Amino acid sequence: MIASNQNTEFARGLEGVVAAETRIGFVDGINGRLVYRGYNIEELAESSTFEEVTYLLLYGKLPNKSDLANFKNKLNADNHFDDKLFRVLQDCTKGSHPMSALRTGVSYLGGLDKNSNKSDLASQESMGLKLMGKFPSLVAAINRAYSGHEMIKSNEPDYTVRFLEESFGKKPSEFEVKVFRTALILHADHGMNASTFASMVAISTLSDMYSAVTAAISSLKGPLHGGANEQALELLERIGSAKNADKIVGEMLEKKEKIMGFGHRVYKVYDPRAKILKGYAKDLAKHTGKSELFETAEEVEKVMISKLGTKGIFPNVDFYSGIVYKSLGFDPKLFTPIFALSRISGWFARSLEYLHDNRLFRPRSMYKGEVGPIKYVPLEDRK
Ligand code: CMC
Repeated sequence: MIASNQNTEFARGLEGVVAAETRIGFVDGINGRLVYRGYNIEELAESSTFEEVTYLLLYGKLPNKSDLANFKNKLNADNHFDDKLFRVLQDCTKGSHPMSALRTGVSYLGGLDKNSNKSDLASQESMGLKLMGKFPSLVAAINRAYSGHEMIKSNEPDYTVRFLEESFGKKPSEFEVKVFRTALILHADHGMNASTFASMVAISTLSDMYSAVTAAISSLKGPLHGGANEQALELLERIGSAKNADKIVGEMLEKKEKIMGFGHRVYKVYDPRAKILKGYAKDLAKHTGKSELFETAEEVEKVMISKLGTKGIFPNVDFYSGIVYKSLGFDPKLFTPIFALSRISGWFARSLEYLHDNRLFRPRSMYKGEVGPIKYVPLEDRK
């Protein structure tokens, strides 16, 4: 017998369910627009820094010069960590994915913060700022550990530049900073995606910001969310050349396999972030003189749109971000930690926003099992 005292409304994967109100960002999936606090993503990507965008997401307006200077001071007030954490990161990157190291790293930092048992808004904000301040060094250290190098410490106050310097041990060019900063801005927030939702569920229990970010990182790791960029690049490398795209993609679709970097729960048109990153992927192909990967990607895009465009399947942000990161010198295993380096802004801003009018997330599931009562059989009598 099936339980009968249940509300029968049920949406798989919570599709279409509105779970919170927000003023932070709007994903217009019909018209292919992404808006942060009223600003079009294209304009922010062109003209802003990542810190300005983070301030905008957190506090609702673009900072003036003095707001920005204060904000950067707060981020950089305590932006490093000691070598003990680096040894932990080295251990974690030996056998498992760098996202596991990132998850452990954030949890470790939470364990060291004496305020992490507090849940009032001011403490949550200060934990978030402290954690964000350490994030470029944390992700860069994971990059160093994963590639078998020692950690590098830079005093550079800019989020993007510090990350690139500590990752590669040299000053990045202006072009590299521009491209990477744009990628960070484009990934900073994106509606109620799985990792943002996970962070909000954690914070809604009045847990702390480190725990919320740890929950978010755990969700971002999966290939249906943040892990897609790494797999998209792997596929492009396997396809190898534009002339193979039609055959390989066709065979995969026949076997009902998903092509990573395509499709989106909300966008049913071209993802605006993918458009911008495609431009940079093309520029980088010219810049580095290595165009095969980009040409293969363009061909895969053509094939996919011709086969699945009518179903609303187009490249998403993860399709071209991998090419951009690879061209900048990153190992594909670092792509998802880089996603987190940016999305921490959205997790932080939305978790804080939610706390202003907090209500514990507690949905129900539809019970499909026996309601019994079935007679209990003691262990020794069971067959
Ligand atoms: N390749 C091939 N077919 C696809 C793809 C794809 N990438 N995406 C969707 N489809 C097909 C799917 O097989 C299904 O076909 P049918 O109607 O014949 O059963 C139909 O389109 C609907 O797919 P769905 O998976 O039910 O749609 P969804 O709304 O759950 O899709 C998605 C969202 C992102 C999970 C899915 O498109 C997908 O798995 N894409 C590949 C993974 C990926 O690129 N993820 C990154 C998303 S963007 C980053 C972020 O914001 O997190």
